[in-house]
Amino acid sequence: MHAGRCPHCTTATAHTRLVFGEGNPDAELVFVGEAPGETEDQLGRPFVGRAGEKLDGMIAAMGFERADVYIANVLKSRPPDNRTPLAHEIDRCGPYLLAQLAIIRPKVILTLGGPATKLLLASELGITRLRGAFATVRLGVAEGAPFEVPVMPTFHPAYLLRNYTVETRAQVWEDLKKVLAALGRDAPARKAN
Ligand code: URA
Repeated sequence: MHAGRCPHCTTATAHTRLVFGEGNPDAELVFVGEAPGETEDQLGRPFVGRAGEKLDGMIAAMGFERADVYIANVLKSRPPDNRTPLAHEIDRCGPYLLAQLAIIRPKVILTLGGPATKLLLASELGITRLRGAFATVRLGVAEGAPFEVPVMPTFHPAYLLRNYTVETRAQVWEDLKKVLAALGRDAPARKAN
């Protein structure tokens, strides 16, 4: 349905492939990023470039396999020159992400960076202000069967790579530990990476 009808992705021209998202359709945890980059666009899979390696590390640090979780983005087609998604692009493609999340019905959603957090929390506050505190998103509204899911905003792995400091890494690990607690899971001992 998305590939045939999305008003953004059916008219966008900068991409070669759609990146729908992938993972466990019954995942208890979903990660939502921004938009496909170059490698993702070539392979048709989310988070398979450098930021993806970092995300894989975050998933493993939480004690999950990549196949256990679901990974998607706010936009399903790559923006020109990797620029940040524009508001009108998110308005058009974002509803498909919300429908996707309503089908998966995860226990917790982790939003990675500003655009994903802004879409799910409908907030104008920046990621630095919002990260680390649970909020909720109402899903299933378009389907007429609303329900709420906790959302934990954290920094995007690409931001983490650009700001690889003890403080930023500790902040992200704190956020991930809160998600594990909400899922009723123990946090594995943190490795020094
Ligand atoms: N960055 C994102 O936000 N999503 C991807 O899929 C890859 C990089």
